[in-house]
Amino acid sequence: MKIKIIYTSLTGNTQEAVAVLSAALTALAAQVEVFDSEDGIEVADFFNDADAYVLASFTDEDGQLPDGILDFYDDLTDFDLTDIPVAVLGTGDTTYADFCRAVDVLTDQCQEDGAQLAVPSLKIELAPDAAATQEIKRFARQLTQQIAA
Ligand SMILES: Cc1cc2nc3c(=O)[nH]c(=O)nc-3n(C[C@H](O)[C@H](O)[C@H](O)COP(=O)(O)O)c2cc1C
Repeated sequence: MKIKIIYTSLTGNTQEAVAVLSAALTALAAQVEVFDSEDGIEVADFFNDADAYVLASFTDEDGQLPDGILDFYDDLTDFDLTDIPVAVLGTGDTTYADFCRAVDVLTDQCQEDGAQLAVPSLKIELAPDAAATQEIKRFARQLTQQIAA
């Protein structure tokens, strides 16, 4: 099975979470392709040729989506994802009022586009600690099981 991941990360926490996820999926025999959204892949090219798709983002000031994933998000707002398996995760900081709001924004948009949310969205405090690493591994297991089902 093939899984594509797109992420944005400024200080490395989300990138670290994606590295944990990617390793966990690979250990579960998935073929994984990872894209940095700042490299500018088109939505139509990303949502193509895989069994499931993962979106990962930190949350920026006032609960906003980071600049690095805004173009991708804008194109997502009128894209058809009917029945496509999607999963969302992200990192944030609980000292902010809108903890990991970008995860909710991306999840809501994918569902509005008709995507099938393959696993519940996952919010991680800063860089993944041991407990978060276990949660990411469980997220990976659930995702592969969902695709295989
Ligand atoms: C200016 C600024 C604003 C932030 N605003 C939020 C926020 O509203 N909600 C949140 O959960 N985290 C917020 N954060 C925390 C980041 O999302 C968090 O540090 C995240 O792990 C960074 O991810 P990255 O290392 O992948 O860039 C903010 C961080 C900065 C520097």
